[in-house]
This record gives sequence, structure tokens and C-alpha cells, in this order.
Amino acid sequence: MRKKNNWRIPKGAELTELDKQVLYYQNKGHLVPTRDLIKTPEQIEGIRRSGLLNTAVLDRVAEQIHAGMSTAEIDRLVYDYTVAHGGIPACLGYEGFPKSVCTSINEVVCHGIPSEDEILEEGDIVNVDCTTILDGYYADASRMFVIGKTTPQKQKLVDVAKECLEIGMQAARPFSFVGDIGNAIEKHAKKNGFSVVRDLCGHGVGVKFHEEPDVVHYGKKGTGMLLVPGMVFTIEPMINMGTWEVFIDEEDGWTVVTEDELPSAQWEHTFVMTENGLEILTY
Ligand code: MF3
Ligand code: CO
Ligand code: CO
Repeated sequence: MRKKNNWRIPKGAELTELDKQVLYYQNKGHLVPTRDLIKTPEQIEGIRRSGLLNTAVLDRVAEQIHAGMSTAEIDRLVYDYTVAHGGIPACLGYEGFPKSVCTSINEVVCHGIPSEDEILEEGDIVNVDCTTILDGYYADASRMFVIGKTTPQKQKLVDVAKECLEIGMQAARPFSFVGDIGNAIEKHAKKNGFSVVRDLCGHGVGVKFHEEPDVVHYGKKGTGMLLVPGMVFTIEPMINMGTWEVFIDEEDGWTVVTEDELPSAQWEHTFVMTENGLEILTY
């Protein structure tokens, strides 16, 4: 295990109960958060407000999405609704991303770019991944939408991916580890004959779009960063029907696609760790 003294005690300060708890794990060689990853109550309130807007945006998408609609229409809807309510779509211009939301259909795992030419069809399964900035605070969530009726296998993939998020959420207890989340998710996916994408992960969020830690969706219990009350992060498992391997579309440099071009599904929430476990901030 890696020795990294992330948790520093200010000179001359008395150890708080939290300091003692975190130092116990750090001294055992666990990776622990830096202090700035523990959000203040004000920051958590800000992220919660951003989460409310994020949920309202995705609810709006849920009302409007239908066969025959282009993914560019979803993008406009997200932009207009977010801006009308005082927010900023975080994806727009993020590392050069050209649109306000990611729309990822069938074999597209994530980071699909909305387009006028891409029309939703009956039977498609589509992930809409929306990150909202409100008063400088970030909230990040995604949902799957089934267009009309799909095949039983694709419907199962969508359902199991959602269960994976819920099971990951339950596995995250205060003073457990990121690896406990990943371990629970991977078990559930495998039990259902599906695989877990390894190249992309959840992340700390709130003050910036992507913060520490990396929340991987596979792995061993007791590994990865210690989860401490006040930390805010996403869980966003990408579950594949076939192989876990993926590639990035060379033409646009963004779209992540399954190697075998079988379907993929993903659900995401932003959470805050409390004394009693995770609370969803994007409901
Ligand atoms: N919302 C994605 C996530 O869950 C990130 C999208 S980045 C973008 O982390 F640039 F593609 F928008
Ligand atoms: Co997201
Ligand atoms: Co995210």
C-alpha cells in the first residue's frame, strides 16, 4: 500500500476526533483524502442547490425525449433550461467539448456528442449525462432512457446498471473505501453476465468538475481512498453487455464506444458522505 501523508495537522493544533480517525487509517498505510476534499456545510449546501437544478434539467429531458428527436434537440433543451434558471452547463467548452450535455446511444459508452444528424429510434437505449454549475458549484448526474420498447437483453442491461449504482451506494459507508464500492458493483455486474468498464471512473466533484478521488467501479475491498464524512463524489458505473474494453472515436476524439460494439448502460449520481452513509444530491 502507498504511503502518502495527505492528512496534515496544522502546527500546534489539537487533534480533533476526525483527525484521530483519519490518522489511524493513514498510519496503517491507507490512502486518505486531503483536507480540502472534506466540504464545508456551506459548500455542501451550494452543491445541493446545484443538484436540484441538475435534477430539474434531467426531469425536463425525461418529459421531452422521444423517438424521432435528434440528440441536438436534447442539447438545446439542456442549454436553455439550465441558463434560464441561472446555471451554466459544465460540459460546454470543457476541455474543448462542443456541446452542453453528453448523449450516448446503444454501443456508445459515454461522452457522445449531440448532433442534428443523430435521431433517436424505437428500441434505442440512451444515456443523457448532464453536469450543472450553479453559483460556482458542480453537480453531475446521468440517466438511461429507453426509447419506446427495447429488447429484453437491453432492458436488463439498463436495469442492472441502475442496480449497480444503488449497490455501490449501499457499499459506501463512512470510513469504508472506494474499493468497497467498486467491488460491490463488479460482483453484481458479473453475476448478471455483464462487464464493467475500467478506463473511466467516478470522481470527486463540487468545487471543480473532476476532483479526487478516482471512484473506480471494480476492484478489491479495503483498497483506494478512505471515504470520510463531508466528501462529495460521483458513482457512475458503465456496464457493458459484452467485453469491458472500449475505444475512443478517432474522428471526434470524444465518443467512447465498446470494442465489440455491443450495448452499454450507465447511471450516475452526485453524493455526499454523511455520518450515516451516502446521501444523493442529484434527486
Ligand atoms: N459528465 C461526465 C462525467 O460524468 C463528464 C463529461 S465531460 C465532457 O464525468 F466534456 F464530455 F462533457
Ligand atoms: Co456525468
Ligand atoms: Co461524473
